Amino acid sequence: MKFVTTNEGKVEEAREYLAELTTVEQFDYDYVEIQSDSLADIAAYGAEAAFEAAGGEEPVIVDDSGLFIGGFDGFPGPYSAYVQDTLGVQQVWALVKTLDDRRAAFRGCVAYTDGETTETFEGSVQGELVAPRGTGGFGYDPIFEHAGETFAEMSTEKKNALSHRGRALAKLADWLADRDQ
Ligand code: IMP
Repeated sequence: MKFVTTNEGKVEEAREYLAELTTVEQFDYDYVEIQSDSLADIAAYGAEAAFEAAGGEEPVIVDDSGLFIGGFDGFPGPYSAYVQDTLGVQQVWALVKTLDDRRAAFRGCVAYTDGETTETFEGSVQGELVAPRGTGGFGYDPIFEHAGETFAEMSTEKKNALSHRGRALAKLADWLADRDQ
């Protein structure tokens, strides 16, 4: 199948979960994201559009994710990339540190389509926002702490094993394995 993304790291992560079930090739394409509060709607719509753009034959997956801050009613959620590009992680932290409750979650949705069937798989991981620490990862990783470490302080393997995307990919792997039995 093709993973429609401009991020090669996500493709490598998907290969780890799907290796025994299918090959995963990157289709480096920036699909148009609809505006919605639902990651599943954004990912499903993106997968169907990307399926056509990728030639309309091989199954595709896309993934949509975001940081949901409890004290801000889930903001920035589906708008996380935009907020990262505009405010940036330091300013998000400056806003969050005014909150007493700094709990947050990364949520992700992987959508699969083969042109006939479209399925979505969601994953999430809970954490707490902290002053930036660590140099690994990307996006909000330096301010997202889970079990005492920020995602930017963890090895890629450790982060992938507990990340929202890893959990969604594991569900996709189970579904593919059941379907192909
Ligand atoms: P997208 O799903 O790749 O468009 O990701 C949306 C945005 O959510 C990214 O630009 C990041 O700001 C944030 N994000 C998603 N997943 C992660 C993660 O694993 N670590 C840090 N930030 C993330």
